[in-house]
Amino acid sequence: MKQGIFITFEGIDGSGKSTQAQLLAARLRAEGIPTLITREPGGTVLAEKIRELLLFAEEDLAAEAEVLLYAAARAQHVCQVIRPGLTRGAVVICERFTDSTLAYQGFAAGHDPEPIRKLNLFATGGLVPDLTFFLDLKPELCWARVQERNKTKGTDRIEAKGFAFQEKVRQGYLRLAAAEAERFCVLDGSARTKEELHQLIWVCFREKFPWIPVGKEGKGGS
Ligand SMILES: Nc1ncnc2c1ncn2[C@@H]1O[C@H](COP(=O)(O)OP(=O)(O)OP(=O)(O)O)[C@@H](O)[C@H]1O
Ligand SMILES: [Mg+2]
Repeated sequence: MKQGIFITFEGIDGSGKSTQAQLLAARLRAEGIPTLITREPGGTVLAEKIRELLLFAEEDLAAEAEVLLYAAARAQHVCQVIRPGLTRGAVVICERFTDSTLAYQGFAAGHDPEPIRKLNLFATGGLVPDLTFFLDLKPELCWARVQERNKTKGTDRIEAKGFAFQEKVRQGYLRLAAAEAERFCVLDGSARTKEELHQLIWVCFREKFPWIPVGKEGKGGS
């Protein structure tokens, strides 16, 4: 039975997911809360191999193959990492989850999201995040940040798709967030520092889970 709390971070490439996931994890750990941080696609040896296949494929992937590979990686990740973490009672923080597939391979790629939704349910055994942070930024700003970051890291297949695609992904996320306003916390990340965003995320987390035993507000952990 699920006992922990499952938090996901979503957003287009370069929107600050890794930054904020790490800041939240650090804060929770500083508060003494058992916390697990992981990412999709990946999080297990097999899933990391699938991630490599997806990000650096040497041929055009059929849309269906792409969706199925993401689902396979997710199933393994849920089974080996996320559910065991939740069963131990941890706060499990995951960068990207089912909403990413719906936004990218569904809405942005112009495919019917319904079969993808069903496949997600199958792959995850019906696991839905308790809270999802969507970091909303215009693609141009994310792109500038990604370019800056990639000076040393190289680019990947998804980032190579450009502004128009990223804007479609963004619109897809906005639709998902509007449809499930209770689960989503949408944050405009454009004119805020990393620390300002982190504070908003922390306040949202505290409001959503007031029973979690954390210390006094303002106690730093990040
Ligand atoms: N609030 C912010 N203000 C300015 N720069 C930021 C902010 N948040 C993150 N960045 C910077 O933007 C870049 C992208 O951030 P990050 O890697 O966290 O995004 P991401 O969503 O995880 O990207 P990806 O989708 O590629 O994994 C990094 O260089 C990061 O330091
Ligand atoms: Mg990241």
